[in-house]
Amino acid sequence: MKKQIHLNAFTQCSICHHSKGQWKNPRDSSSLGYKDVNYWVDLARTLERGNFDALFLADVHGTYNVYKGSRDAAVRHTVQFPSNDPSLVISAMAYATKFLGFACTYSTSYFAPYQTAKNFSTLDHLTKGRIAWNVVTSYLPDANANFGIGEQMSHDERYERAEEYLDVVYKLWEHSWEEDAAVRDIDNDVHNDPAKVHEINHEGTWFNVPGPHMCEPSLQRTPVLFQAGQSGRGVEFAARHAEAVFALMADLNHCRDSAKKVRAAVEKQGRASEHVKIFPGITPIVAASDEQANDKFEQMKEYSSPEGALALFSGWVGIDLSTVTSDMLLSDTKTEAIQGLLSYFEIVDPNRKWTVEAMGEQISIGSVMPKFIGSPSTIADQMEHWMEESDIDGFNIAPAVQSSGFEEFVDLVVPELRRRGRVPETYQTATLREHYFGAGQSRLPSDHVAHRALPRWKLT
Ligand SMILES: Cc1cc2nc3c(=O)[nH]c(=O)nc-3n(C[C@H](O)[C@H](O)[C@H](O)COP(=O)(O)O)c2cc1C
Repeated sequence: MKKQIHLNAFTQCSICHHSKGQWKNPRDSSSLGYKDVNYWVDLARTLERGNFDALFLADVHGTYNVYKGSRDAAVRHTVQFPSNDPSLVISAMAYATKFLGFACTYSTSYFAPYQTAKNFSTLDHLTKGRIAWNVVTSYLPDANANFGIGEQMSHDERYERAEEYLDVVYKLWEHSWEEDAAVRDIDNDVHNDPAKVHEINHEGTWFNVPGPHMCEPSLQRTPVLFQAGQSGRGVEFAARHAEAVFALMADLNHCRDSAKKVRAAVEKQGRASEHVKIFPGITPIVAASDEQANDKFEQMKEYSSPEGALALFSGWVGIDLSTVTSDMLLSDTKTEAIQGLLSYFEIVDPNRKWTVEAMGEQISIGSVMPKFIGSPSTIADQMEHWMEESDIDGFNIAPAVQSSGFEEFVDLVVPELRRRGRVPETYQTATLREHYFGAGQSRLPSDHVAHRALPRWKLT
C-alpha cells in the first residue's frame, strides 16, 4: 500500500503570510479576512473537504526591525504584522468542523507554563482532541520588553529554559489528574475525588509550580507536539519532545539529509523514529495546465514585495540583509535568532553571487519554501517524488495567495492525490494524534519523555 501523504495547511492570523505583497493580488482575501471569523470558518471547512489533518497557525510577538535597523519595511509590507492571536479563533473553526485538527503556536519564552497548560487543555476539550501545540522558543528581541521580562536570552538558553517549561506542562497534563478523578458520583455528592487530583510540586531553575492542574484530562491530555527549530540544539530538542517536525527545506537533498538527521536524533533519545512525523513546507501554485500555472506564477511576481521578504528573513536570522555583500557566507555568521535558516541561500545555489536584490527576489513568493508549480498531476508527481526520495510523512501547504490557494489545492490537487491512493476519501479517525499515528493512539506513546518520571499513583 502506498504511504499516505499527510496534509497540513500553514498560515497565520495575519496578511499574505510568507508571500509578501500578495495582499495586492485580486485573488487575496487574507488582507481583510484574517480578522473575520467567517474567513477562518470557511477555510476550516475547505480544508476538511480536502482531508487535511490540521491547520497550522504561526504567531509572533514583536516587530521585524532588523532590516535597515528599523521596523518600517516590516510594518509597510505586513511582515507578520499585524498578527492576531491564533488560539482565539480555534473554537469557532472546531464548531464548524468535525475532524480537522489545529496546530497552534505558543511561545515558551513569553507565557507562563501554567497558563499554557490550561489554554491547551481547554482547547483539547473544546475541539474533542484535535489540538496540537507548535512549541517555539522565538527570536524577536523587542517582544521581551512588551512582556516585561528583561533581555532576550541567548539561543541555547531559550532552549534550556524550554526543556524545563515542558517538564512543567507534562506534569500538569499527564501527572496531576488521575484518569478517573472526575467521578461524578451523585449518590455520595462527589464530583471530583480529591485523593485523585495531585499537586505537581515542581521546583526548578526557572519555574516553581505547585499545581494541581486546573483542567480535568482531555481526550489527548498532552496536545500533539509540533516543533520547528532546525539548528543542532533545535533538532536535539525536537528529538526529545516533538511528535511532528515542521521543517523549512530548501530542496529535496536538504529535505533528505534533514529527515535522516531528525530520525537518527529521535532514535538516540530511545524513541521509535516513526513516532515523529516530518512535514516540510511547500508553496504549491496550481492551475489546470502547467502553462497556466506558470502564467499564474508570473502574475504573482507583479504583486510581490521583495523588500518585505528581506525584512522577514532579516528578522528570522537576526542579520540585516541590506548590509550583506555577495562575497559573504551567511552560514559563517553567528546569530542568536533562527540558526537553522542561515545556510538557506548557499543550499539553493552555492555558486551564485547572492546580491540583496537576488535574495529578495528568491524569497518574495513562498519565502524559503520550495515552490511546486504546475497542473494537478505535475504537483502530485513532485509530492510523490519527495515522499519516495526522503523519509517524510507529508507536507505543510502554504499557498502564495490565501485563501484562494487553499481552495485551488483542495479542488485540483487533492482529487489527484486521492486518485493515486495518497489521500483518503474520508477521515478514518477522530483525534489529531490518531490522524497522524492511527486509531486508538490519542495519548502520547509510552516511549515519550513525558512518561519518564512516573508519579507514584501511576506506578501502582
Ligand atoms: C518552519 C518554522 C516555523 C516557525 N514558526 C514560528 C512561530 O510561529 N513563532 C515563533 O516565535 N517562532 C517560530 N519559529 C522559530 C522557533 O521559535 C525556533 O524555536 C527558534 O527560532 C530557533 O530555531 P533554530 O533551532 O532553527 O535556531 C519557526 C521556525 C521554523 C523553522
